[in-house]
Amino acid sequence: MLLAALPLLAGCGKAVELTLDNVDTILAEMTTNEKIDLVVGAGNEQFLGYGSTKLIVPGAAGTTTPIKRLAIGPTVMSDGPAGIRIDTVREGSSKKYYYTGFPIGTALASTWNMPLVEQVGSAIGSEAHAYGLDLLFAPGMNLHRDPLGGRNWEYYSEDPLLSGMTGAAYVNGVQANGVGACPKHYVANSQETNRKDVDERIAERPLNELYLRGFEIAVRQSKPWAVMSAYNAVNGEQCMESRQLLTDVLRRKWNFDGIVVTDWAAPGWRVSAKEIAAGNDLLAPGSKEQRQELRNALDSGSLKMADLDTCARRMLRYVARTSRQKGYKATEKVDLEAGKRTSLAAAEEAIVLLQNDNQALPLRQEQNKVGLFGITSYYFIANGSGSGNVKTRHTVSLLEGLEHAGKQINADVAGFYQPIVRDTLAARKYNELGYEAIPESQIDNSLIDHSAQTDDVAVITIGRSCGEGIDRNAFTGFNLLPMEKQMIARVSEGYHKLGKKVVVILNVPGPVEVASWRNQVDAIVCAWMLGQESGDAVCNILTGKKCPSGRLTMTWSLKYEDCNTHDNFPYDFHGPRAIGNYAKIPRTPAVKNVHYVDYAEGIYVGYRYFNTFNKPVAYPFGFGLSYASFDYSDANVKAKANGEYEVSLTVRNTSNVSGKEVVEVYAPVKDISNQLIAFGKTKELGPGESQKLTMTFTKRDISYYDEASHDWKLDAGSRPITIGRSSREPVLSLNVGI
Ligand code: GLC
Repeated sequence: MLLAALPLLAGCGKAVELTLDNVDTILAEMTTNEKIDLVVGAGNEQFLGYGSTKLIVPGAAGTTTPIKRLAIGPTVMSDGPAGIRIDTVREGSSKKYYYTGFPIGTALASTWNMPLVEQVGSAIGSEAHAYGLDLLFAPGMNLHRDPLGGRNWEYYSEDPLLSGMTGAAYVNGVQANGVGACPKHYVANSQETNRKDVDERIAERPLNELYLRGFEIAVRQSKPWAVMSAYNAVNGEQCMESRQLLTDVLRRKWNFDGIVVTDWAAPGWRVSAKEIAAGNDLLAPGSKEQRQELRNALDSGSLKMADLDTCARRMLRYVARTSRQKGYKATEKVDLEAGKRTSLAAAEEAIVLLQNDNQALPLRQEQNKVGLFGITSYYFIANGSGSGNVKTRHTVSLLEGLEHAGKQINADVAGFYQPIVRDTLAARKYNELGYEAIPESQIDNSLIDHSAQTDDVAVITIGRSCGEGIDRNAFTGFNLLPMEKQMIARVSEGYHKLGKKVVVILNVPGPVEVASWRNQVDAIVCAWMLGQESGDAVCNILTGKKCPSGRLTMTWSLKYEDCNTHDNFPYDFHGPRAIGNYAKIPRTPAVKNVHYVDYAEGIYVGYRYFNTFNKPVAYPFGFGLSYASFDYSDANVKAKANGEYEVSLTVRNTSNVSGKEVVEVYAPVKDISNQLIAFGKTKELGPGESQKLTMTFTKRDISYYDEASHDWKLDAGSRPITIGRSSREPVLSLNVGI
């Protein structure tokens, strides 16, 4: 019988504790099997296509394998990104393991407020640390290539700079609490349809300028402990097996020094030896089959011990960084009141005011009686579904928010919707993948007319959800349903003939069609999916307690078909949901947009397309209205000694309402009419108050990726700089010599 290798003993006879300083010593002591155990996760009790373990922290995504002989502990990994995702109840315990539900990724980015995003990251990191989580699988930060991407709500934007800066702020926040963050899914996980097998075919320039760029910014500016490799392939090579992506780009070019964790791949999906050789340090969730595969590969020579050592060494560094390895014991105490305050603050700043005709908003004190329409008004959707779902204790609905604000809700209208919500929820089986919208119900015209007679203002909510494993559908996800449009038309007709206002709230994961109905209503508020405090956040904007300051992080097209990606996106796919049902999507014959996707649009994604080719849109990238008004003056741009460029200006609040202002800076880059190169947000400015805002951009921000030289290039000369309220609202123009 093989004698188990003796534990590594320090002089005092005690097992040598792993630290960042003795990684090589420990590695030298490890057996081959121990190295293999370290690079293959401890596994999930069952393979679901997303993480769920009963080990250590029940409901977390998964754990790494401990090496007891060497006192190398396990670590615990959990999802985000809109808060931690663990079970709130545990077998044998009456304790509740609650945590905070924050706004979704797109909402966080819509604040354009990086210190606030960092604050949210820190709040999530603090709760993760309290529950003994060592690594958070967040932020999700794939580019919004097409508005129907099923997980776009977890991600940030159609723009890589905004995506990268938001991701970096989030990572810095989380990691300030001794918990690792893990930008995902590296790279180009742009759709959910057949996500495990789809090959994303992307030319070099868009791959570098759009899909890699956000990750590059986050890696360079926040040094995440980990990055998650994506399910999909890029240009015929699986991300999880790509040495070019995981080592040459991520490590050699960007100096990433953390670990690469695979997305949740079942045994046999990838070649484990290739994953290790490529630079994937942890095969997650992990299985005995993968361990055996690695042993066989070492024996056959298809895997070099040196490559295994490289990954095992990085895993030792990762484990050594964790509080758990340093002896920390989870307190399991979180400050839910602090979490609530942070979640509410972020939700308020994420809200985008899209239309406000005739100052319909904010509601006046005397507009006290509200006709509240739309089933979603009574069951706000806090979050999307899938691994990004956060099991919040309670989500404040719009009804509750309006009641908290002292408004009187029409009881007859509420009496129509509330039983439907109650019965729908009662009929639903517990779904750990989270929220689905409740289908709209046709309210009787007599109730609408009665409400128009007795109430002061109508508020209508349109709700949409979506989630992991399935993309949004153009006809039911992007477009409003006939019943919804009839409701809007009838309520508007009833209220307008009595001179009363109609406000529409969009509780949605991304853009929806507005052009066909927006002229029937007075105001439109985009409320995304705002987490547990949704209803109060929306009401604080509706009542003017808070001034809206959010801005769109993606273009809202007039029709879905106006998006130049729609020919190369599965907007009408009707196959099985690609979460756990992978086998049901046959691998042959190869189907366009299901097995392979041609990124024929190249660099022309989102506003890069709509603005460069002057296409009409419903709302442009960067758009958002305010109750306040601001003017910009004293703008200046100058080169700094460190090679960066500084843009400064004075922003003054010219209204009688306090508010915050987002300032966006654009410049042309080869073939692109105006590209976001910097942005900033003022503090809350009182009436008449001014603030000098300073923003910086780098040479890289105004460079383009040249496919001939396979490198970034910068066109010298004078460069026009536009300072604006959105990508189509220029305010000041400058020039700078590059
Ligand atoms: C899922 C998701 C990923 C998540 C992981 C663990 O499949 O793609 O975002 O972090 O598995 O749940």
